[in-house]
Amino acid sequence: MSHPALASGHVAVVTGAAQGIGLAIVRALAARGLTVAMIDANARQMSDAVATLPGVSLLPVVVDVADEGAMMDAAQRIRRDLGPVHVLVNNAGVTTRGGPWGGVDAWRRNMGINLFGVLQGQAAFLPDMIEAGLPGLVVNLGSKEGITTPPGNAAYSVAKAGVKVLTEQTAHELRQICGDRITAHLLVPGYTFTPMNFPGMSDETAKPPAPWTADQVAAAMIDAVESGRFYILCPDNEVTPELDAKRIAWAAGDMIEGRPALSRWHPDFAAHFTESASAYNQKQSYCDPAQNREGRK
Ligand SMILES: NC(=O)c1ccc[n+]([C@@H]2O[C@H](COP(=O)([O-])OP(=O)(O)OC[C@H]3O[C@@H](n4cnc5c(N)ncnc54)[C@H](O)[C@@H]3O)[C@@H](O)[C@H]2O)c1
Repeated sequence: MSHPALASGHVAVVTGAAQGIGLAIVRALAARGLTVAMIDANARQMSDAVATLPGVSLLPVVVDVADEGAMMDAAQRIRRDLGPVHVLVNNAGVTTRGGPWGGVDAWRRNMGINLFGVLQGQAAFLPDMIEAGLPGLVVNLGSKEGITTPPGNAAYSVAKAGVKVLTEQTAHELRQICGDRITAHLLVPGYTFTPMNFPGMSDETAKPPAPWTADQVAAAMIDAVESGRFYILCPDNEVTPELDAKRIAWAAGDMIEGRPALSRWHPDFAAHFTESASAYNQKQSYCDPAQNREGRK
């Protein structure tokens, strides 16, 4: 079933649109005939990205999603230039590191972009989408780090856990006020071949076998939205949906079974998890902090 917001001639807004998953989502929406307002903080990356999209109906807008006033101004400009918005994808994100008792400035930046950037995207666009009475779609970018919360970057895990809860609340509130006219979804990529994981990558950079491409994530997003799924958990070429399910159930089980926090990485429990997960596709040490990079959670 196709989602009514994903129709040719409709208007989409994608944040963090100048590279990686955001740019792949722009391509996927443009291929369906949507006009896309591309929001990104990096002007040079934006012009490089636009140059890769000849003939596509676009409005590039250089804005920092962490700047509430600038996001409100951007929303006004997009409405004025393109008309009512049908699709909002809050994708902009950074991996700025902050530990459990340090790096407060990094925490502020991380939360400002990864959590408040999503909230400000919704605040800037959703009231008008609700008011317009048109079909609508909101997709927010979560992370497995916000679900199984592995050690290594507390700030990022907290921000992405916040995006998960915010998106669940958004979906519920939208359902109360407009039924299924505007739907909200949480997109959770697996390990993905983007500059976030491969800084400085170019068209010549060879993709290693493990990650998915950003285009695979964008295609999975469209498929899942069209089949009405709220949680859009992407696997990758190492982590299967079954292993993800095992990890999520284990994390929830910490509370139910009375295990220590983050027991998957606790010396008394890690081996037990590894053993029980081996029926799935265990290929790596779950206690190796080097594995703690985005998407390999
Ligand atoms: N790559 C992965 O493996 C992976 C896995 C899970 C979740 N995610 C999430 O997916 C999203 C996209 O990730 P990606 O890998 O494409 O990242 P990326 O770093 O390759 O691209 C992010 C884009 O966001 C833009 N951006 C950063 N801060 C911004 C700001 N303040 N305002 C506006 N734009 C800003 C950047 O300029 C860049 O164009 C992020 O939210 C990330 O947390 C990525």
